[in-house]
Order: sequence, then structure tokens, then C-alpha cells
Amino acid sequence: MTMNRRNFLRFLAGGVFLLGGGVFFGKGTWYRQAANGMRELAGDLDVQYLRQIITAAPSSSRILMWQSANPLSRPNVEYRRQGQEETTTVSANEDFFTDDGVTNHQYAAMLTGLSPATAYEYRLVSERSAGAWHPLHTPGEDSFRCLIFPDSQSSDYSDWERVAQEAAARNPEAEFFINMGDIVDNGEDHTQWQAWFHAMEGIMERIPFVPVMGNHETYDKNWNVRLPEAYLRYFVVPENGSRDFARYYYSFDYGAVHFVVLNSQWDETEDFKHGLLAEQMGWLREDVRQSSKKWKIVLIHKDVLQYRIHNRPERQEGISEVGKECMPVFEELGIDIVFTAHLHTYRNRGHIRGMRHDSGGPLYILTGVAGNVRYPGLWIDHALDEVVAPQPEVDNYLTMEVTTERIIIKCFLPDGQEIDRVELTKTEA
Ligand SMILES: [Fe+2]
Repeated sequence: MTMNRRNFLRFLAGGVFLLGGGVFFGKGTWYRQAANGMRELAGDLDVQYLRQIITAAPSSSRILMWQSANPLSRPNVEYRRQGQEETTTVSANEDFFTDDGVTNHQYAAMLTGLSPATAYEYRLVSERSAGAWHPLHTPGEDSFRCLIFPDSQSSDYSDWERVAQEAAARNPEAEFFINMGDIVDNGEDHTQWQAWFHAMEGIMERIPFVPVMGNHETYDKNWNVRLPEAYLRYFVVPENGSRDFARYYYSFDYGAVHFVVLNSQWDETEDFKHGLLAEQMGWLREDVRQSSKKWKIVLIHKDVLQYRIHNRPERQEGISEVGKECMPVFEELGIDIVFTAHLHTYRNRGHIRGMRHDSGGPLYILTGVAGNVRYPGLWIDHALDEVVAPQPEVDNYLTMEVTTERIIIKCFLPDGQEIDRVELTKTEA
């Protein structure tokens, strides 16, 4: 059965509804590997890019996505609590799509009704084959650690692969990973996506991915702007209720944090679809006000400050267009931390309110660069910079450790050398 995108989304929504009512088909199906003589999926069926995607409530749900070289027969996901025999089966859904002249046989399955703070494991199953088991962890309200990667766009993704894989190896307890946008250099080029996915193998199967859309996700092969078709298909992120901008921006809860993933590409999308900025700002206010989480963190690709550039004296230091639109709203909403990207340089600007350092404003971290597109000697330090990565920059990554009372953000060079550390504490609600 081939399902178009609208039906695919309806199916996902319907699956949640049915499960809520306790009658989701496949629930309670038993599966015994020995009985059917199953083979590994990784062989003849060639499953690729198996990945966990964050959901709005990752303590109780998860989306799994993957591709295959050829259509799969009756693809399912089986999952169980680690150490237990009984499995639950969830049907996967096809979302075949063609982009850059290549047809992707893509699948997605949504697990719902999971218990918080529980270790599960899952595997892919088709009519006559079964894959390896992979871990799947649901958070509780406790502390957690995550990985934050700046722009990974590259001409060669081997540097990105090394940064990501080594960061993940040094942080085996990291529960999810964020990529701050400009995931690929060209959003239409399927070879770039393949390279990015390949680099993340071994990580994205076992912990969820939190994608942030960047401007490079909106470029076609001729470097003209288009809608971010591939990005939107590869990552089924949480619903935002938007008619025109579903999956462009979203939010989710993890432990004591409400994360808001914003989309800074309103200029890029305006000629295709009108009104991303206004719609998003209205949604943001409502979304944050509805959250009772202690910490509120924003992820957005383009930076809020404007930096001077060497040899371009006409360019002034100040606030960027994104900053003009968003910083007053972030202050109004009591956002604790804002992570940005896009400039390929790591800078900790401390807390800012009213364009001045002020402990009452959000902490603004410009996350740096994790691919091989680097801008040595380009930027002139901003008056608001408090910590700047050693120049000229190589790559970097960040970790964030969160408890109810404290958040510790650390920035590392690719070899694991710590170059910055910032700690936030909050004792009140
Ligand atoms: Fe960018």
C-alpha cells in the first residue's frame, strides 16, 4: 500500500487516537524469533538510516523512521521492556517520496503508551525477517544529559562523523542529541542527506534526534531557495497545529525542561508561503505559557546578534533581524536559555536583556561549528561576547546536564578538551 503524505499524517494521528482508546491493532501481538526462522533485516532487505525522532512527550512515545532499498512486506516494529519476553507490535507506515530524482522507500512507526523512566528495546520486523534489537529509553522527571551539535553542513562529512561519534562515545549517558540546523549543505542533494545519516549510524538508532531546520535545508540543487521538502519528510517532528507550517517548528518536554524549536527561515519561505514569523510568534507565546516546566529553552538556527566582519566596515555590530523579532519575546516569556547557530563560531554571550548584560535575561549561546565549513578570521568579536572559542576555530560540540535546580552547559573541542562551562541555578518554581 502506498500512502501519500496526507494519509500518512492522518494515520499517525489516528494511531495515537486509537491507542488512547486502548484498541490499537497489533497491541499485544506475540512474536517468537525461533518459530519463524527470521533473518537479519540488515542483510538482504538493506534497511538504512534507522532513527528515533523526538516526540512532544518522549516519556510516553517515540517515532521510529527508516529507509529501505526496496519496499518492505508488512513492516512492523516490535518492542519490549528490556529483560522481558513479551513484545508489542506496531505497524509501520509507508511514506514514499521522490526528491532530487531519487525515490525514498521510507517508513515510520509511532510507539505510544510507553511508561516513563523505562528501558525498552525495539527491532524492525517484516514478513519474513527481523532486525537487531536496539535500546529505547523513556525519561522521567529526573536529571538528564543531552548532546548539542552546531551546524554540520559539509563538503565532506568525515569531520562531522568524527565529532559526533566521539562526542557520543564520551557521553554514553546522553539521552538525545540536537543538531542546530544547516544539517546538510544542500537540502535537495540526496547524497548530502545520505552522508549525514551515515555519519549518525550507531547514535540515532538508540537515542532520539531533535532536528532544527536551517536555511541550507531550503536550498535546491541550483542554490535557489525552495521549501524544505526533504527535511520535512525525513523528520516527523511533533505537530504544531499549523496548516501551512507543520513540522517547521515544534516543542517537546524532557525532564524538567520545556524545549521550543523555532524556525528562523521566514525570509526563505515567504515567497512560497506567507506568514511564518507572525504565526510562529503567536504560537510561541501560547506554547510557553501553557508549560509548567521549570526550565524553558529555545533552539533556533539563525543568531540573534549581528557581528562585524573583517574587511566589511559598512557592517555594524548590533542585533540581527532574528534578534529584533525574537529577543523581546524571549524576555517577555522568561526563556532561560537560547541556543543559536548559523555563524559557525562558538560564543557565550551570557545573559542579555534590553541588549545589555543582565542576569534577568536569557542566556544566549551561539553554538559553533561541527562540519567542515569554517570561517577563519571572518568575525569581529561582539561587545556582548563573554567567551569565544580559540581562533581559528576547528569544530566543537556541547553537552547540557539538567536537574531541577541546575543546568550545566559545557563546550568541547573535538578531542574532548573543555573550552567553556556555564552553570545556571534556579531555586524558585
Ligand atoms: Fe545557516
